[in-house]
Amino acid sequence: MLILGLESSCDETAAALVTGDRQVLAHRLAGQEAAHRPFGGVVPEIAARAHVEALEPLVAAALADAGVTLADVDAVAATAGPGLIGGVMVGLVTGKALAHAAGKPLIAVNHLEGHALSPRLADADLGFPYLLLLVSGGHCQLLLVEGVAHYRRLATTIDDAAGEAFDKTAKILGLGFPGGPAVEAAARDGDPRAVPLPRPLKGSVEPHFSFAGLKAAVARMAPLHPAADVAASFQAAVVDCLLDRTRRAMDRAAEATALVVAGGVAANGAVRAALERLAGERGLRFVAPPAWLCTDNAAMIAWAGAERLAAGLTDPLDVAARARWPL
Ligand code: KG4
Ligand code: ZN
Repeated sequence: MLILGLESSCDETAAALVTGDRQVLAHRLAGQEAAHRPFGGVVPEIAARAHVEALEPLVAAALADAGVTLADVDAVAATAGPGLIGGVMVGLVTGKALAHAAGKPLIAVNHLEGHALSPRLADADLGFPYLLLLVSGGHCQLLLVEGVAHYRRLATTIDDAAGEAFDKTAKILGLGFPGGPAVEAAARDGDPRAVPLPRPLKGSVEPHFSFAGLKAAVARMAPLHPAADVAASFQAAVVDCLLDRTRRAMDRAAEATALVVAGGVAANGAVRAALERLAGERGLRFVAPPAWLCTDNAAMIAWAGAERLAAGLTDPLDVAARARWPL
């Protein structure tokens, strides 16, 4: 089984070819950081136009990398939401056109499902159900992944996502965009105990997240401390919150066979290390995809397509793009 995957929901344009037995034959990605950097964040209109320019050449390059043609593909999987609607439409309409031209089924993939199933592309032994911490720029959720298309949301953020807080902290500290990797790098030279910062919702009964208060505290404290100390203290606060909330969710997900982390923030070394320790304490397996598979990419979309196709789930060509689409 060979699936072509397309991703265009935020600021990465990507195309990938993945087989049903977990071989990533090609994965191409074009970032748009340079286009958005002057604005300190992703500008939807600029993103959509950049996807239009980048996507078709990326598909051609991915097919060439894999040494296949469109006729060899068994299905086309495209992100159909959630995300910036202009970009989502570019990828979904391209996917529809390719599926129609090839006479193959279309699979409209929820971007969050791409993140949620990506650990199973990286690890053939990861079975259902597993407890997933999905931490990205737009989302921060704890999900019990019970099977393909079966997700039970245990918690979400009541305000900002963790990745958003990383990006905002980077902006406040003048570390540039995108913020996550820059804050992680700055934190290496800082003291995580130097700056007193809050741990919003830590200890609360429901395992939800909140990062708005932490963001505001960073803005207040940043002028008073070296940037490295702020970065390290901020990262430590985020890790504390993620750990505490995940621990709480574990008490409600006794059936989970593994603790899994995915999404852009899962690329963070401190986050991964802390979760791995927590899994160890509870005697659970820990699975985290490699960093390139954590941040947005099309291999995870192709893989979600492979999982859905295997389950007999395909979509009509008139399926709609969705800006909002909870899992
Ligand atoms: O999953 P993703 O690529 O896009 C969304 O679907 O949102 O996640 C992007 C987010 C950004 O907020 C970025 O700053 C964050 O993931 N991120 C990181 C790291 N790498 C990316 N956050 C912390 N540490 C990192 N190394
Ligand atoms: Zn994402």
